[in-house]
Amino acid sequence: MVPASDEVTWTSTINDVDFSTTIESNSILLDILRNKGGSLGTKRGCDLGTCGCCTVLVDGIPKLSCLTLAKEVEGCEITTVEGLSIGHHLHPIQETFAEYGGSQCGFCTPGFLVVISALLDENPKPNESQIKTAIEGNLCRCTGYQQIVDSVKAASEIMVNNMKIKDSTAPQSDPHPGFK
Ligand code: FES
Ligand code: FES
Repeated sequence: MVPASDEVTWTSTINDVDFSTTIESNSILLDILRNKGGSLGTKRGCDLGTCGCCTVLVDGIPKLSCLTLAKEVEGCEITTVEGLSIGHHLHPIQETFAEYGGSQCGFCTPGFLVVISALLDENPKPNESQIKTAIEGNLCRCTGYQQIVDSVKAASEIMVNNMKIKDSTAPQSDPHPGFK
């Protein structure tokens, strides 16, 4: 007979909100996020670690939530697809997925968006090979992938342009050098 698991308190930050609940000590992160954490955007596909649908960011790193014990990520910052937008503004990859047909049935979409947001955070100007490597763990049966790659390239352009605008409007550290 398998011994009963203990009930433990589990705390983390989900999409920038402190979260605490009681879980079975062997609970899987995907179940906690969907059943208690309010993230129905985190999808259950294969439940075996092969499709990428359930990907979330744990302290900024993509992780398959179907293969992660909640206990392993106790106290971490978890970002699901619901946490990618900034206020009412979509993340650039969310905009371009809609524009370029990166999402069709949409089931795989949350996992792709999460993985690509991490890629663009680390490397705002990835080349095609880097894009393909980043998404190789995510399966899509609808798009044929080209629309997804095109969406990443377009999101990258938006992010690079935003960075240029930000740089050009940033105040100089000393607007009157030499004048004391
Ligand atoms: S549901 Fe986690 S990888 Fe498929
Ligand atoms: S959009 Fe349908 S599986 Fe990817």
